[in-house]
Amino acid sequence: MKGNVLVVDDEQIVLRSCERILSAEGYYVETSLSARNALELLKENVYDLLITDIKMPEMGGLDFIRQVRAKNPDINVIIMTGYPSQENIREALSLRIVDYLPKPLSPVVLVEATKKAVDISKKHAAPDQEDEDYTKEAAAKLDDIIVDYRGRPGSLIPVLQEAQGVVGYLPPVVQRHIARGLNISVSEVHGVVSFYSFFTMKPRGKHNIRICLGTACYVKRAEEIVEKLKEVLKIDIGEVTPDKEFSLESVRCLGACGLAPVVVVGENTHGSIDPVKTGELVDQYR
Ligand code: FES
Repeated sequence: MKGNVLVVDDEQIVLRSCERILSAEGYYVETSLSARNALELLKENVYDLLITDIKMPEMGGLDFIRQVRAKNPDINVIIMTGYPSQENIREALSLRIVDYLPKPLSPVVLVEATKKAVDISKKHAAPDQEDEDYTKEAAAKLDDIIVDYRGRPGSLIPVLQEAQGVVGYLPPVVQRHIARGLNISVSEVHGVVSFYSFFTMKPRGKHNIRICLGTACYVKRAEEIVEKLKEVLKIDIGEVTPDKEFSLESVRCLGACGLAPVVVVGENTHGSIDPVKTGELVDQYR
């Protein structure tokens, strides 16, 4: 079993879809039609991930997450919403959600977001491990960065950006270092790293390939491109090839919808990709 997931939504059809899609991927899925019932389930069971709607009649999703946080401060939470207003997302972000899924749900986006969140949860739960790229020199540089920003409002994101520049990525050991240095909780750091796609917890390859799974790209066969990239590179989304030449990530919109479907390799944007020619695109970078 890849992980335990609790899905909360007041629409049975959404619950059944999530259950079907995630069970087929190897997750154990429990569902709840109400936030109140979900709070009971959360008292009795341990989950790697909570996926919840934010518009529910008896208790809104944001109030629900607040109550969840009081008892389960570290559980990873993804919200689903058909109304992704800036205000809702901002508030949800302050509750340390790790991702949000626009409705109607796309199966590939649901699976990718679940995999990422569950992987993160398991990595954080693993015993403390030094990361081979996190040398004493890198730790010393990070100390200097933290000292520069300490006490300044809004310092977390720039510190993370600089830390990623030094180490190359942001494994849990680096996140804990930053949390200690800025005197904030590890879960706050972790929430920001998980939410923004420009931060990564895993090393990237020499050529980082980002495939867009936003709506405009999705309807133009982005899913076929994902499958082809996985087949050609022999890695999954979020992984890096053994020779560290390529890594594969998905994003929700690259702001180039007119060019859909879009793939970005390093700094180069490739639009109107024909799924059949995906292999040729990768070959350009070999
Ligand atoms: S949806 Fe793919 S670039 Fe916007």
